[in-house]
Amino acid sequence: MQQRLKLGVNIDHVATIRQARGTDYPDLLEAAHCCEAAGADGVTIHLREDRRHIQDADVWRLRRKCRLPINLEMANAPSIVRIALAVKPAEVCLVPERRQELTTEGGLDVLGQFASMRRTVARLRDAGIVVSIFIEPSERQLAAAAQLGAPVVELHTGAYANARGAHQQRELRRLLRAAAFAHGLGLQVNAGHGINLENIGGILQLPWLDTLNIGHSIVARAIFCGLKQAIREMRAALRPYRRGAC
Ligand code: PXP
Repeated sequence: MQQRLKLGVNIDHVATIRQARGTDYPDLLEAAHCCEAAGADGVTIHLREDRRHIQDADVWRLRRKCRLPINLEMANAPSIVRIALAVKPAEVCLVPERRQELTTEGGLDVLGQFASMRRTVARLRDAGIVVSIFIEPSERQLAAAAQLGAPVVELHTGAYANARGAHQQRELRRLLRAAAFAHGLGLQVNAGHGINLENIGGILQLPWLDTLNIGHSIVARAIFCGLKQAIREMRAALRPYRRGAC
């Protein structure tokens, strides 16, 4: 049977609203329950080194009480790796991180930090965690990611999402080639960043997608229609996807 395209919902920005006032609401576990009720396949959270939204206690609580698999986005930083090894989420997505950035700006430079990344990937895998590498749609980086021993890559869709017109079509072609290339290397292909209901059409042209991780646009839409409905709308948008057919 055709495997459906999975949706991981990133709930960082539910925590952003909470942190803006230092309250104990909105409750992240309630958000995770909404994800489950609305048919999401996983919950994604990013434990940043500056703790601007997700806090350590959130990671522990979600791991203990959320029934959906947790995908923990994180930098390859010793203190964060220690937390991941203790919490043991279902999946870790290694991302680059800069303190001043508004959001994750680029993919990981796998070639530039190969030895340290390989050690981290091995430690996480030994702990039974599925490791994913957040990466630009570049064949050089993908080939290096495959050599790290991580079974999954998440293609950075931000450049496509931010571009318009012919530039956006060029970015889409890069993503199409990268998805086929990554699949050919035996990697599971996920994608994420900046995906919304307007630009999802191009993303659905990518071959061999397993999971899309989407956060900001869903939480933004939830302001007007509620989180469950916003997730259901995104789920419905993913439904026409046909894996491998492009
Ligand atoms: N995937 C990764 C690796 C990310 O860093 C982010 C942003 O936290 C997302 C997906 C989700 O991006 P957005 O919030 O723009 O949908």
